[in-house]
Amino acid sequence: MKDFIIAPSILAADFAKLGKEVEDVLSAGADMIHFDVMDNQFVPNLTMGPMVCESLIKHGIEAPIDVHLMVRPVDALIKMFAKAGATYITFHPEASENIKMSLDLVRDLDCKTGLVLNPQTTFETIEPVLEELDMLVLMSVNPGFGGQSFIDSTYEKIAQARTLIEHKGLDIRLEVDGGITENNISRVAECGADTFVAGSAIFSKPNYETIIDEFRDKLVSSKD
Ligand code: DX5
Ligand code: ZN
Repeated sequence: MKDFIIAPSILAADFAKLGKEVEDVLSAGADMIHFDVMDNQFVPNLTMGPMVCESLIKHGIEAPIDVHLMVRPVDALIKMFAKAGATYITFHPEASENIKMSLDLVRDLDCKTGLVLNPQTTFETIEPVLEELDMLVLMSVNPGFGGQSFIDSTYEKIAQARTLIEHKGLDIRLEVDGGITENNISRVAECGADTFVAGSAIFSKPNYETIIDEFRDKLVSSKD
């Protein structure tokens, strides 16, 4: 099992002061920045493009950036986000014409690969390419919006994913995205996740350090 990573989703940040928000959440103890890209076609919302990613890096952000593409098709944006400095580039299997080729593209551009499964998407779709992944992401809400409630059936899916990863002896991260709060993060970890995306649960709080510390405490005690 890998070290725990807390990845705030900046979808819930104040975009009018994004650089400061990212600096603040990192100095409060976050490990990685989760960057949600929506195209108003694959999902019914429109967010940020590669220029925003590049601006954050030019602003001095050195933490890894976890780009979650909710766009179709994916290949052109994979290239743009790799150029913009993304660390991870993850996408949904439904959004690629050829999943293996899109994963190869991410890796050839020196980024880490990841596939994202919607709540209804099963493992069968991606089993043939599991070996190609640096990270498997399970959506615990339907993609498109922040601030939704965690879908309870995800707990079992996380446990199944952990079993699959161990069974195949893969050295990959297991990220869970959507509806994570101080009330469910322990259980998400107990089921086998090691990477936790949280948007509204962090950015809605007046003090980011307090909530990230609380997450960290819950993660430590979930190991007992
Ligand atoms: C949903 C996004 C999530 C979301 C998480 O489409 O992929 O990353 O922003 O936000 P919360 O934690 O508010 O559910
Ligand atoms: Zn996301």
